[in-house]
Amino acid sequence: MSARPRFVLLAARGTSDHAALYAKYLIEVSLGLPVGLVSPSTFSVYGARPQLDDVLWIAVSQSGGSPDLVESTAAARAGGALTLAVTNAPDSPLARAAELGVDVLAGPEKAVAATKTYTSQLLALWLLVDAWRGGDGSAAAGVPDLVATALQAPGIEEVANRNRFTTRLLTTGRGYSYATAREAALKLMETSYFAAQAFSGADLLHGPLALVDHDQPVVAVVADGPGGRSMVPTLQRLVERGAELTVVGDASAVPGARAVVPLPSGVAEELSPVLEIVPLQRLAYELALARHLDPDEPRGLAKVTSTL
Ligand code: F6R
Repeated sequence: MSARPRFVLLAARGTSDHAALYAKYLIEVSLGLPVGLVSPSTFSVYGARPQLDDVLWIAVSQSGGSPDLVESTAAARAGGALTLAVTNAPDSPLARAAELGVDVLAGPEKAVAATKTYTSQLLALWLLVDAWRGGDGSAAAGVPDLVATALQAPGIEEVANRNRFTTRLLTTGRGYSYATAREAALKLMETSYFAAQAFSGADLLHGPLALVDHDQPVVAVVADGPGGRSMVPTLQRLVERGAELTVVGDASAVPGARAVVPLPSGVAEELSPVLEIVPLQRLAYELALARHLDPDEPRGLAKVTSTL
């Protein structure tokens, strides 16, 4: 395996899959390498064993325990890929299966719904890519303080209260923020038990917009940068259709949105997902409480999910 991969494959499930999606945008944009998201079942269910010379395989997992990730990572290594596990569990089966490892150092996460492991994965993946392109990581130095500010973002309780009886919600974002939209939808579904679906701001216009009618709750994530600016046509169409629109991020783009959750300014768009998800994790928390649910113990879920 050369130390200069020509392709990157990312393998992950659930929340970690959204961190992987973030890394896909980051690597494609800042390193110019093609990146794919892996279907672990190709390996574990169908037994495929592709040749993966010149591939960097990055498995992302908080627990490092899901058998399909372990098996596909071992198969990728046997197939010639350089394998790297980004986990919160450096002694896990996944970390042992991969040649290289990054510990995201989030500490024990007790709630079933992953939160701090997600932001730690994002930051670890950003630091990895920044080092790869010759950076020293300093561009992220302000992130901890900015996250503390994002945690205090005003308006969350009000948005939760207004939407507490909803049965469906849409989330949307583009580029790096699409990962945020996906992760927010997952957190809302698993803690409040209503249908939440994420679309890229572009895909929303290619059909699903038709299901948006008056008062349909929509959460749009709008970063300060090209991805956020590319959301403007989508936001205009949502306002036209009378959506109950909550914008997380750059409010200036969206006249007509009823609720806006500002984010601290001064962060590069590629780091923005570390901040954006924080008020949305709070929204999931507040909505669950408003619906008399326990956000730490979603029904029917365990902390580690084993899929084959
Ligand atoms: C959601 C959640 C799950 C996990 C998924 C993958 O809050 O925690 O979606 O992210 O089960 O688990 P790991 O990251 O341990 O491979």
